[in-house]
Amino acid sequence: MSSIQKAYNSWAFQYDTNQNKTRDLEGIALRTILSTIDFERVLEIGCGTGKNTIWLQEKAQHVTAVDFSEEMLAKAREKIASDKVQFKQADITKEWSFADGKYNLVTFSLVLEHIENLDHIFRKAANALVKGGYAYIGELHPFKQYSGSKARFDTDEGREVLECYTHPISEFTQGAKQHGFIVSDINEYFDDNDRTQIPRILTILLQKV
Ligand SMILES: C[S@@+](CC[C@H](N)C(=O)[O-])C[C@H]1O[C@@H](n2cnc3c(N)ncnc32)[C@H](O)[C@@H]1O
Repeated sequence: MSSIQKAYNSWAFQYDTNQNKTRDLEGIALRTILSTIDFERVLEIGCGTGKNTIWLQEKAQHVTAVDFSEEMLAKAREKIASDKVQFKQADITKEWSFADGKYNLVTFSLVLEHIENLDHIFRKAANALVKGGYAYIGELHPFKQYSGSKARFDTDEGREVLECYTHPISEFTQGAKQHGFIVSDINEYFDDNDRTQIPRILTILLQKV
């Protein structure tokens, strides 16, 4: 088991209840951006405890929600019992055998910071989408990462800091272009909407052409 998977298995018990501005602001960003597009079939990558699955399944006909942490998935399953949602445990750095046909939307929320090689991810996401389909990325802003922010949580034994990779914005956009996407929209979200501070969340909406 990777150190990231192990860490999320421990974090699962407090992930929803900890104070976590990044988790909450990304949820707002996803809802704002995806309310502007139509989709029926969604592949949610790194669904965690289902923060966004709940909203996605209200708007979509089907959601395949994937995560490699069985404990994060267990929390999501407690919340969501809908025929429209299929949870699958898998490591997205391996083969994407969890993909069930083609999708109109693939989402990545706060997961790509744990993935070193984005090339594999863009290739698989492009294969999973219909032509004209969208990929949504919502990540801790790289500027925040440059200033030292990392996914972390506290336990009785001390603070656990997760293994993270910093991807500059151009790595997302260039990688996406190489795999047949165009950049449809880029946005930044700030704590308390204060644009004089470092942005917390970066969102990128890609479209497969
Ligand atoms: C910060 S949580 C985000 C969860 C949810 N998307 C949200 O916004 O609250 C990151 C999630 O990505 C999952 N994850 C990280 N690396 C993964 C991998 N290689 N394969 C599958 N899931 C992964 C973790 O288990 C965790 O649930």
